[in-house]
Parts: sequence; C-alpha cells; structure tokens
Amino acid sequence: MDKKEDLLEKDLKKEGLESEANLRPQKMQYFIGQQNVKNNLSIYIKAALQRDEAIDHILLYGPPGLGKTTLANIIAHEMAVNIKMTSGPVIERAGDLAAILTNLKEKEVLFIDEIHRLNRSVEEILYPALEDFALDILIGKGPSARSIRIDLPKFTLIGATTRTGLITSPLRSRFGVISRIGYYNEDELHQIITRSATILDIRIEESAAREIARRSRGTPRIANRLLKRVRDYAQIEGLGVISDKITLFALKNMGIDDQGLSDIDKRLLLVIMNKFQGGPVGLDTLSASLNEDKETICDVHEPYLLQKGFLARTPQGRKTTEMAYHYFSQYRNKIGEDDNSTLF
Ligand SMILES: Nc1ncnc2c1ncn2[C@@H]1O[C@H](COP(=O)(O)OP(=O)(O)OP(=O)(O)O)[C@@H](O)[C@H]1O
Ligand SMILES: [Mg+2]
Repeated sequence: MDKKEDLLEKDLKKEGLESEANLRPQKMQYFIGQQNVKNNLSIYIKAALQRDEAIDHILLYGPPGLGKTTLANIIAHEMAVNIKMTSGPVIERAGDLAAILTNLKEKEVLFIDEIHRLNRSVEEILYPALEDFALDILIGKGPSARSIRIDLPKFTLIGATTRTGLITSPLRSRFGVISRIGYYNEDELHQIITRSATILDIRIEESAAREIARRSRGTPRIANRLLKRVRDYAQIEGLGVISDKITLFALKNMGIDDQGLSDIDKRLLLVIMNKFQGGPVGLDTLSASLNEDKETICDVHEPYLLQKGFLARTPQGRKTTEMAYHYFSQYRNKIGEDDNSTLF
C-alpha cells in the first residue's frame, strides 16, 4: 500500500474527526454548493416548522466526504431538535434499534449512517416505525407468543449511504425525501477552502486555493485535508503563508496530480488499459489485480473516474475511455522528465 495514498483516502475518516467537526458548517446558509438540495430541504424544513411537525424521513446518498453527515446535522439544527447518531453496522440486533427508537423524543432526528449495512431483522423493525411510528414486538415463544404494538414519538429518520443501489426497495420507499449529493465544482471547493482557511487561521493565496480546489476530486473532505497538509509544508518549508509555489511543491510530494487523480485512480485505469486492453473488466478481477477491496473501488474511485469521463461501466464490466488514453499520453510526456515512469 502506497504511503501517499494512505494520506489521501484510507485514513480520511479516521483522522481529525474533531477537527472535521469544527470545519463543519452548522447552518444551511454556510453549507456551500448543492444548491438544489439545499433549496428543497429549506422548503421542507420551513413547512414542517410551520405545521409544527417532524420533517419527513430523508435519505441522503452520494460518494464519501461530500457532506451527508454535515447536512443531517444542519437539518436537525434548523428544525431546532436533537440529533442522535448511529450507523448501520453498529446496530447489530433488532433489540438495539428498538431501544434507540423508544428513547427518541417527539420530532427528534435519528441519523443512521451507512444505512445500507443494516441487517435484515433490524431493517424490518424500521418499516412500521417509519410508516406508522410503531414498534411490533413479539413476546413469548411458541403457541403462546403474541405481538404487541408500542407507539413511538413522531421522529425523523435521516439515512445516509454511499450505495443507493444496496438499499432494499421497502426501505427506500419509506423515505419521503431522497436527495443525491454530487461532486462539487472548482468554484464551490474554492469557497470551501477559503472558508476553512479562515476558520483555521491560515493565510492562503487566492491562486493556491484554486490549485487545491482543482485537485480535490470534487470532495470537500479532501479539500480540507489537502489544505491542512499544504499548511504543514508552508509552515516547515515555506514562510507560513500558503503560496502557489509551496502548494505545487506539496501537492507534487503528496503524489496528487493536476486532475486530482490519486495513485489508486491511476493504477485502476492503467491496469485496465495495460493488462486488459481497455476492458471490459469485472469488479472481482479488478479488485484482485489492484489488491483493493471492492467497496473502496465502487464508493471512492469509480464514481469520480466515471464523472471525469475516464471510465465507462458496461454490463460486461469496466472500460477505459478515449479520454483516459489521452490523459495518460499527456501525462507520460510530462512525467517522463520527472523520472517517475514507474507507473507504466
Ligand atoms: N457543502 C459544504 N460546505 C462546507 N464544508 C463542507 C461541505 N460539505 C462537506 N464539508 C466538509 O467536508 C467534511 C466531510 O463532510 P461529511 O462528513 O458531512 O461527509 P459525508 O458525506 O458524511 O461523508 P461519509 O460518506 O464519508 O460519511 C465536513 O467535515 C465538512 O468540513
Ligand atoms: Mg458521514
């Protein structure tokens, strides 16, 4: 496993959960981008507030690091209610979920991250809870067993997932709002970086912020991460200000190219191009060739490469596109001089 890559993706979630927390916008007005999603959610929030009701259940889906957890917090904040946070794999038994649900108060938000990873028996508890605000509990065993129904407060479930395709249709159909969170454009990332720099009290040149934005894979979490690492370089190798020069130097040392592709992104494309003549290649084969797990390939790498137009997905498998060849032919010329041709 490449060390540079570690820095970019693998430990994104682990590091700095608390520092991530203070970069997290608390109000809708500070949440940059996703205009459509924001407009719609703001209307639903206003309407629910006016009716003095809980807001309908919401499913947020999209690649990691784009702001699903942040948005869930903002929604609860704007509704002026508490949010309880948990995640699919943490809720092991139906009883665990029943306990969480019965402890909720009227209008409170329950946030379930990675909701596609709930197990079947837990998920079934959710159906009546979402639809009728009730829990059906089986008491006793055998012929004397009977089911009792417990009423629940009218709460709001916010589910987040990177994989909408893995959500069962009975669960999906119980959400009143389903919002897709997509990649951010450069301007939006630039604003996010500038905002974070202000919060972290870092001085950064405008063009340096642009450069980081361009290489952040459309992802605010990566933008913030790169900003912090470039700051380290500025502190140790530079004059404390994040200049263009130190930014380019730092990004180069971190192995982040000017399209924002990480080493694994590049390896993924190169494996398909060189080993499989451009594809199609199945996910299992790809995963084995890259020595990367399938989830990471599907959640982190593919969506960005698809969006960039470097990769195409066909029923037979993944294929590289003309653009990918073009990208690498330019890249090959450029890095030929850098003596970094180990990639090929
Ligand atoms: N629209 C935004 N404006 C400003 N900052 C943002 C925005 N979206 C995300 N961020 C920043 O990016 C970080 C990651 O966002 P968040 O944790 O909400 O992503 P996520 O979609 O929940 O990711 P995961 O799928 O990995 O749980 C946040 O800490 C926040 O600082
Ligand atoms: Mg999250």
